[in-house]
Amino acid sequence: MAQRVRIGQVQDFPAGSLREVEVAGTKLVVARDEEGLCAARNRCPHLGLSLTSGPGGSHYADGVVQCPWHNSRFVLRTGENLDWASGIAGRSAPRWSQRVLSAGRRPAPLTTYAVVVEGDEVFVEL
Ligand code: FES
Repeated sequence: MAQRVRIGQVQDFPAGSLREVEVAGTKLVVARDEEGLCAARNRCPHLGLSLTSGPGGSHYADGVVQCPWHNSRFVLRTGENLDWASGIAGRSAPRWSQRVLSAGRRPAPLTTYAVVVEGDEVFVEL
């Protein structure tokens, strides 16, 4: 059975920004898209690095987060991978080097979590 944990209030998660929260030792990234709030594990499936801090900076727009390390892109709400290790720190890399950047890892989705809003309170279900 899922564990429901309070992570803040609705106003703590403004539109267009990513926010990292830690729940029971797991770092999550929370954002608002056009459907509301959504959450995923703050761990890129490429090399396990943070989606919110890295050399390329934090990028989130139209419900899509871009990893600040090697530019993989994901739909935050569903975890779907849209682009896999296509560059470094926000800069594109030539196609031949993208195979090197992928480090032999196949595209994979983010781990996502259900977000529940009750009044002004926000919870995630782990
Ligand atoms: S760690 Fe995210 S794309 Fe490499």
